[in-house]
Order: sequence, then structure tokens, then C-alpha cells
Amino acid sequence: MTQTFVTSRNLFAQVLDPASRANPYPLYARLRETPVSVQENGTYVVSTHREISQLLHDPRISSDERKSAQGSKALAESETPPFIFTDPPEHTLFRRLIMHQFTPQRIAGIKEHIKPVVDALLDAKRQQNQFDLVQDVAYPLPVTIICRLLGVPPEDEPRFRVWSSDLVRTLDPTESLSEAEVQKAAQSRVQIREYLKQLSETRRMHPQDDLLSGLVAGDDPDGRLPEPDLLATMQLLLIAGHETTVNLITNSMLALLRHPDVFDRLRRNPDLAIQTAEEVLRYDPPVQFRTRTTLADLPIAGVTIPQGASVVLLLAAGSRDPAYFVDPDRFWPERPDNEHFGFGGSDHYCVGAPLARLEAVTALKVLSQRLQAPRLVTEPPPYRKNAALRGPEHLQITCDYIS
Ligand code: HEM
Repeated sequence: MTQTFVTSRNLFAQVLDPASRANPYPLYARLRETPVSVQENGTYVVSTHREISQLLHDPRISSDERKSAQGSKALAESETPPFIFTDPPEHTLFRRLIMHQFTPQRIAGIKEHIKPVVDALLDAKRQQNQFDLVQDVAYPLPVTIICRLLGVPPEDEPRFRVWSSDLVRTLDPTESLSEAEVQKAAQSRVQIREYLKQLSETRRMHPQDDLLSGLVAGDDPDGRLPEPDLLATMQLLLIAGHETTVNLITNSMLALLRHPDVFDRLRRNPDLAIQTAEEVLRYDPPVQFRTRTTLADLPIAGVTIPQGASVVLLLAAGSRDPAYFVDPDRFWPERPDNEHFGFGGSDHYCVGAPLARLEAVTALKVLSQRLQAPRLVTEPPPYRKNAALRGPEHLQITCDYIS
């Protein structure tokens, strides 16, 4: 058996290794010993709270991977990147147009659908005392909700599962993707855009009360998204809207089942679900890291990151930084200060945070009330390959009964 000697210069390669997926946190602790470390492939990894926060706010750091020598292969091939991969002034305008459609009324309109969906998913499992939380609840819920918000008809939802799991792989660094995965993602991208093109045409002719109809109507005083950007944005919303939320729900239940005392407190006080979801966004977040590119030489923490370098902001490591959080490795929903990076920070802060919070909190309330004596079947559970958007592939739970 060959053993890799782990140095600070190849620690991030270890993070990407699927063998580390179940528990990357000891590697993050070692990375934090050097707040900004350069890896063997030239990537810079930033792992401490102060430095991540500093870079999230620094205009010399870009979200546009096309400006990096090592940018994502899959993204470089796409003609119009979604606005998450753009910089000002383009990003500022596009984000404003999207935010105008994320109205509190629209989110409130969606809110009333969430609990009935969770209840129906659990009802379907009522006769069994074992089920897979991922397949049976955590995955279908966000797909249903995001499709409803955007205006995708329910009968088309299953197609998004396949497309989005192909596309989500491309959010990992290029070196961890196989050629087959890159090709599959490219194929899915063509199919999803073709589908969305037709749907936006339908909504332009016959508007409904959904986000897509709002975007294609073009009556925003700030203007209208050009068609390629509209399609890229819709695709981003569909994927960002469920690939992350599924992991927030699953990681939350995993943490609760590993901490039965917290689960008991939640059962007695369902409102603790709000702080529980917030703590999971810090303790075991769905988005572990984001990649940026430097637009200029950038001195930070005694290192100068050269212009054009790929920089990994290791959000999940920053959210466990002992210099910032009391007892960071403890799962403690009642912690007094919880300024985590679960939804990023600054200009690219998550657009869907209010919706994600609503879904996770509702799911946790229902699950904690309806599952009687739940237990984990496999410890640790099997994980999906993805390192950036990280979460279990399955979470088998057994319980006495589902009420
Ligand atoms: C951005 C996390 C749910 C849409 C982000 C970012 C993070 C994040 C960390 C920052 C990216 C960066 O700095 O590069 C999450 C988590 C979620 C979640 C953990 C669920 C638990 C959602 C949902 C939607 C959404 C439900 C849509 C309905 C977006 C969009 C951006 C974004 C469009 C890009 C914003 C920009 O670039 O200005 N999200 N997200 N997210 N998220 Fe979320």
C-alpha cells in the first residue's frame, strides 16, 4: 500500500480525496495552522475566519473563473456564465434584477406549501420503520419548492434531478473531475438550457405568478436580463436552490442523531430548529468552499498571492476557527455568537438564504415531532463524491414508528 506523506502543500489534495469526505475537519484544522497556504499545484488555500472575511470583501478578488489560469474546464466551455461567476458591474446589475423577483410576498407564498410537502413525504413512509432521509425527504422537498418558485411544472421535476447532479460535479476543482463527468455535464447543460428556453417562451406568452414569468416580463426599471443570461440564471437557481438545501436538511439530521441530547431539546422546543439550522450552517455546512481568482498581487497574512492565482476560500474551516468561535468543534445550537460563512458573505451572499432557512427549519420541526426514537443505521453514512457541495448520498434512519 502506498502512503502519501501529508504536508501543508498537499493538504488540500487530501481534502478533495473522497476518502476524506466523511470527516474533512481534522484536515481543516491542520490547514488553519497556515492561514494562507500555497498548494503543490499553485492554488492558494485560505482557511482562517479573519482572512476569509477579508478576501470576501476585497475587490481585487474575482468570482470569474475565466480570469484564472486553472479555472474550471466545464465553466470555460460555457458561453454565458451564471451571475455567481461574474464581477461588478455585470454582477451588480444581474443580482439586482434577480433580487427584485425574490420578493418577500413570493417567499411567503411558498412558505405555506413547505409543511404539507414534508408531511406528505413522511406519510408515504408511515408503514415502514426505516427510510432514506436523502432520497425520501431531503432531496424531493427542495426540488418541489424551487420548481414551484421558478414556475417549472411538477411533471418535469424528475428531469432536474439528473441534470443538476451532473452539473453540480463541475463546482469541484477541475483536477478532481474525470473527462466523462465533464462531458456529461456539458450534455446536461445543453438539455437544461433547451428546456428552459422553451419554458421561458411559454411564460412570456402566458405569464403566471412565478419567478420566471417575472424575469421574462421585462418590466423592471433596471432593464431586462439578456436571454443567454436569463437561461444561465435560471439554471443556477435550480441547482443552487436544491443541491445545497438537501445537504442542510441531511447534515442537520445527522448532527441531531449524533447528539441525542440536542434532539431531545428540539423535540421539547420546536423553535430550536431555527438555531439548529444556523448551527449546522457553521458546524457542517453544505457549501464547504468557493474558488476565486486574484486580479492583482495580494498581500495577506505574510504571503503575497500573485495576480491570476486560484484562491480557495475554505468557508467550512473558517466557520470552525477557534480564534473566532468558542469551542468550535462542539455542535451547540444555543451558542451566543454564530457569524458563520454558511451562506458566504459580502457581494455574493446567498440570494436564497431566506428560502433555504424556511425549508430546513420546517423540515426539522416536522421530523423531530413525527419520528419516534430515530436512530442512524450506518455510521458514518456514505457520502457523495463532491467536496465543495458536500453531503451524504444516503442517510438511512430507523425509528419505532412515524406518527
Ligand atoms: C450564493 C450557500 C440555498 C441561490 C451562495 C453562496 C453560498 C451559498 C455559500 C456564496 C457563493 C460565493 O460567495 O461565491 C447556500 C446554502 C444553501 C443555499 C448553504 C442551502 C442551505 C440557496 C437557494 C437558492 C440559492 C435555495 C435559490 C433559490 C444562490 C445564488 C447565489 C448563491 C443565486 C449567487 C449569489 C451571487 O453570486 O450574488 N449560496 N445556498 N441558494 N445562492 Fe445559495
